[in-house]
Amino acid sequence: MKQQLLEVLQKAVSDLGIEASTVTLDFPENPEHGDFTSNVAMVNAKKLALSPRVLAEKIVAEFGKAKSLSPIDADIKSVSIAGPGFINFTLSAAAITQNTQEILMAKPISNIGQGRKVLVEYSSPNIAKPFAVGHLRSTVIGDSIARTLSVLGYAVIRDNHLGDWGTQFGKLLVAIDKWGNWDDIKKSTRPIKDLVDLYVKFHDEVERLENSEDETLKLAAIELIESARGRFQVLESGKDQKTIDAWKICIELSNKEFAAIYDRLGVSFDPNRGDTQIGESFFVAPDKIAPVMEALNGKKLLKKSEGAEVVFFGSEDPKEWTYPPLIIEKSDGTSIYATRDLAADLYRLKMYGTADRNDGGGASRKHLTIINEVGAEQTLYFRQLIETEKMLGWFADGERIHIAHGLYRFKDGKMSTRKGNVIWLEDILDEAVARASKINTESANDVAVAAIKFNDLKRDSIQDIVFDWDEMMNMTGDSGPYLQYSCVRAKSVIEKAKGLGVVANLNAVRPEILQLDLLEKYLLRFPHIVEFAGASYKPSIIANYLINLASHFNSFYSQVTIITMPGENSSVVSEADRAADAYKVAVTQAFSMVMESGLDLLGIKVPKKM
Ligand code: ARG
Repeated sequence: MKQQLLEVLQKAVSDLGIEASTVTLDFPENPEHGDFTSNVAMVNAKKLALSPRVLAEKIVAEFGKAKSLSPIDADIKSVSIAGPGFINFTLSAAAITQNTQEILMAKPISNIGQGRKVLVEYSSPNIAKPFAVGHLRSTVIGDSIARTLSVLGYAVIRDNHLGDWGTQFGKLLVAIDKWGNWDDIKKSTRPIKDLVDLYVKFHDEVERLENSEDETLKLAAIELIESARGRFQVLESGKDQKTIDAWKICIELSNKEFAAIYDRLGVSFDPNRGDTQIGESFFVAPDKIAPVMEALNGKKLLKKSEGAEVVFFGSEDPKEWTYPPLIIEKSDGTSIYATRDLAADLYRLKMYGTADRNDGGGASRKHLTIINEVGAEQTLYFRQLIETEKMLGWFADGERIHIAHGLYRFKDGKMSTRKGNVIWLEDILDEAVARASKINTESANDVAVAAIKFNDLKRDSIQDIVFDWDEMMNMTGDSGPYLQYSCVRAKSVIEKAKGLGVVANLNAVRPEILQLDLLEKYLLRFPHIVEFAGASYKPSIIANYLINLASHFNSFYSQVTIITMPGENSSVVSEADRAADAYKVAVTQAFSMVMESGLDLLGIKVPKKM
């Protein structure tokens, strides 16, 4: 409906010499002011040398003519001018009912994606390291973006880019040999914690030796570091099966632990859906790296600098750098993080890219949108990476995106249990479940996960999160459990209605009740909100919409009698009252459906009871 209205408005203003591209429709802050609003008069007034209000009047007159010739005629109840020159459109009752009907029929939200491919990379924890809170954020935000793009008709590939390569493996393997033993690790109930303990011990030991007065001990520190470097080189060479096997066991143990975490969080990387979990190590292979070096050399982007191969941005003169140079190959010729990322993106283009869009940039270019959800500490790095790929001509504008998230900070001292300076996700989840079981014993895990996810998604991802348990679990404020509760409440109204034989029905007369009107009007925004959230990769837009939607439902629920009960004077409810009830129940149902699918986009499940 919004699109149709927009088109009619664009046609109407073209006679006044207004460009279609300057015509936009928004939702008024307050739905009482109308269902859609346009600032087209304010935007164009100066150019046409008219006051915004005078221009608005002319536009309204033109719109009136255009509308009468269009099928949307019956949908628009009134058009008014407000404030400095806003034009507000109010829908007819029939149009609103029609929209609620479409919600009840579970009409697909949108198809703006039209099957275009998007790879969303998120979570990406590191092997033999803790699943850190940063990875939790990436998992929650990335999963929501993937869900949102899916319902918008994009072909989404979810990619968990596991950190299974790097010099840390040398240290870890040395530590295991020195202080650990594989049988204990494999038998352990907490193998990853054991591995992390060993890894931490390596660092502590190096530090202890380095700080000693004794020269032989100082030497021992250097030896330890050297042996770790040697061990990684052995792994890199691919020639020692024992080292490779040890590394593989670490991967296996970590994956087991990650799988358990994903299960608790309700997140999955499912190969049957086309998702992938390819580790960084996959891109170390010469057949993956060589084409990257070839492409970089082909465009003459590589320069020697202090023995390493680097890419410069803007200029080789430090005073004119857009960004500092990006190292592609170390002086010893081994690949690094950036090289592997370039290899990963080239591989992704080859595997998933489609050549179906003609951007004039040559028929051979493949198209794929790649999104990396990675912490803000890597923002500079991703700018360098994306700029390099731009210079390589691999992607069109807007196809390469880094979504960054801020840090977690802990307000509640209790939660900063530090074991080797690590906050374990498991501890956070356990604490959340303990608190959630006070709200809901049956579905404590769902409530806990809702609290954690919503607490993250309600704000822009770039913001830091101050971890505040009371805010997260608050049953009346803007929390995940509160939204679950409002949905459960709506469903219990529907159940109660069923018991009384009241069936949801929108063909009944639409009752004239302010709270009902506002709720229906707010429901009709949902598909637009999802499109908007998808286009800007911001789950927070959906989260905040759901908070407002819940508050509209809750005023309806608390101020309006949804199901009429027999009064003092009569033992039966009149037919007219029952018809109105049927309508109110239908809207309640539409609310529960929108709330449930909105929460689903945030990865939040609605419990049966609460
Ligand atoms: N494993 C990395 C980390 O924990 C994140 C990987 C991000 N993705 C990428 N393509 N570089 O820091």
